[in-house]
Amino acid sequence: MSGVPVITVDGPSGAGKGAISYMLAKHLGWHLLDSGALYRVTGQACLIEGVSWDDHPAVSEVARHLDVVFSAASNGEILVAYKGVDVSGDIRTEEGGRGASTVAAIPAVRAALLQRQHEFKRLPGLVADGRDMGTVVFCDANLKLFLTASATERAQRRYEQLIAKGQNVNLPRLLEDIKERDARDSSREISPLVPAEDAIVIDSSATPINDVFAQVMLEVKKKGFI
Ligand code: C5P
Repeated sequence: MSGVPVITVDGPSGAGKGAISYMLAKHLGWHLLDSGALYRVTGQACLIEGVSWDDHPAVSEVARHLDVVFSAASNGEILVAYKGVDVSGDIRTEEGGRGASTVAAIPAVRAALLQRQHEFKRLPGLVADGRDMGTVVFCDANLKLFLTASATERAQRRYEQLIAKGQNVNLPRLLEDIKERDARDSSREISPLVPAEDAIVIDSSATPINDVFAQVMLEVKKKGFI
């Protein structure tokens, strides 16, 4: 796997990782790994197959045989298909997030998805978006970023996104969900959400996304990628 540059972008949900990773991959012309989507599809596949998220051996089996295909829509959006059926919308719901974070705490699920994540590391380079990209999956990455923002700010952003999509959402409930998911992701025994020791931490609470991207690009330049 050597010789392929990797930039990891980790952090809690709603910190802007998805947008920054997408902008970065597009700007550099590199591949993009949305590792959260793999956990989300695993949770969704369990619902489809009638497997309870608490049945660890059965969930792990689903992860080991996950028939998932990523493709890019003409507008650049990433489409995700499970067994040939588009599940892009289903996996992005609040329930999709809960399922992902529940199955992601199962060690055998993380092990099953590791090799798939490594397969995204191809020339000319990879931007990997997730929780443990810099600490576990690509610990030899050339540049590690950790994006964060206050829970209140992340809930507000999520609220605006969902309202724009026409979904009926409640802000206090979203904030509770975010705090619950943060607690589950940060306290789990395997691959908890923590910045890598050599990560550059960027707090985007009071910073517009374009300014965060400019800050990220400075780090990318320092590494000589552009
Ligand atoms: O990034 P996204 O919100 O799509 O991730 C959904 C869930 O998947 C996270 O809350 C986390 O529990 C899990 N996840 C993970 N490791 C990753 C990416 C996501 O545990 N690398």
